[in-house]
Amino acid sequence: MSVEEVVASLLGRFLREMSSIGLKKFCYKLKLRGGKRKRVQRLLFGVVSHLILVDWIMSRIGAPRDEWERNLLRVIIYRLAVERNREVVRRLDGVCGFDLEELARRVDEILAEVERLRGARKLSLKYSFPEWLVERLLEYMPESKVREVLAGLNQRTPTWAIVNTRKIDRDELIDLLSREGFECLPDDELDDVIMVVRGGEKLEQSTACRLGLLLIADKASAVVVHVLDPRPGESILDMCSAPGVKLIHASFRMGEGRIVAVDISEKRVARMRELIARYGVDDVIELKVLVKDARKLTEDEVGEIDKILLDPECTSTGVVPRSPDVKLRVTPERLREMVELQWGLLSHAVKLGRRCGARVLVYSVCSVTPDEGELIIERAVRELGVRVCDVPYGSEAYIPGLGVRLFPHIHKTLGFFISKLRLD
Ligand SMILES: C[S@@+](CC[C@H](N)C(=O)[O-])C[C@H]1O[C@@H](n2cnc3c(N)ncnc32)[C@H](O)[C@@H]1O
Repeated sequence: MSVEEVVASLLGRFLREMSSIGLKKFCYKLKLRGGKRKRVQRLLFGVVSHLILVDWIMSRIGAPRDEWERNLLRVIIYRLAVERNREVVRRLDGVCGFDLEELARRVDEILAEVERLRGARKLSLKYSFPEWLVERLLEYMPESKVREVLAGLNQRTPTWAIVNTRKIDRDELIDLLSREGFECLPDDELDDVIMVVRGGEKLEQSTACRLGLLLIADKASAVVVHVLDPRPGESILDMCSAPGVKLIHASFRMGEGRIVAVDISEKRVARMRELIARYGVDDVIELKVLVKDARKLTEDEVGEIDKILLDPECTSTGVVPRSPDVKLRVTPERLREMVELQWGLLSHAVKLGRRCGARVLVYSVCSVTPDEGELIIERAVRELGVRVCDVPYGSEAYIPGLGVRLFPHIHKTLGFFISKLRLD
């Protein structure tokens, strides 16, 4: 069976199961090995990432009624329209029921039509993002910038790792990894971060990872912790903490102190507890873990604190380089739901933080929408009287003075919004 046919059946299965499983986990569970696994995974990721364009082309050509044929046509259109791969015409000739020469000709005509379109419609199809989302970005950035952001989100970002500085020095870690065939570069902004330029996909199997000498995490996530700047002996409230990546990084930097970690999801907290044990966080940190809605946290549960980290659930539109299926899940309703949750969490965090003695709150989301970043902070400044601090990383936010943004095309990270607030 050709790789296109395998991917066509997997695509059908994934689209049916998508409400309960992400693409990364779906691929992880596939019973495929070695080279075939890589080819299948790359093609499936590509088709899902460009499904908006592919489906638009298919709607112009006429979608087959049969589900299997429809999915095979999607895969072939992806090969022709996105990869610009004509070899598939010869290779699959006779394998499927389509006239592939004619299909390739129609795809070229339709792509030329896309080029003649203007504004949000054109960008939505060219980069395969929902049109309403592109329109939202165009309200805050010129078209040339939106183009760069969308193109960047369609590229894979490098693998990054955080050094467990409690156990190993960065140069020693790079040395240790290089002896196992990994090639790593020290990050020039963050003293405890490395970029894995070769072998990233196998980093989890490295001795260093197994010994807890590194934590696999995107650089943007590490920037959030550097902005929080947890110091030895401080008390931190981590309001949406699971699976605990930022908490564990904070514990590396603090050495000693107190963390109150809260998350609403029992399942994610269970995963966080595993990571906490693996990195020995509670050997050094006085740790309190609560499974509850952080909007209902009380002063008694939290106690005296210095700083708050609020990294709430979001549309994850900044994570598209790693999870392209986010493009198929994000809807205006989901965005509204997330904004309501984020505002509920932030307004409670500010009020609670003030009562518990916190001076600083860091707010972060892995999203590229202004609604979950700048507009939330703008409202907090207006209604809660917080002050926004300068942050020495990333690019200026869509609305200057309200925080910073990290982008794949500029910072080689996932898309993040970060804002540091003074509560006093
Ligand atoms: C972006 S993730 C947090 C990632 C985490 N900070 C880390 O670095 O690993 C968002 C988390 O918010 C949690 N969450 C959603 N609604 C919540 C609520 N009302 N109260 C507390 N946690 C919530 C989700 O369960 C999810 O684990």
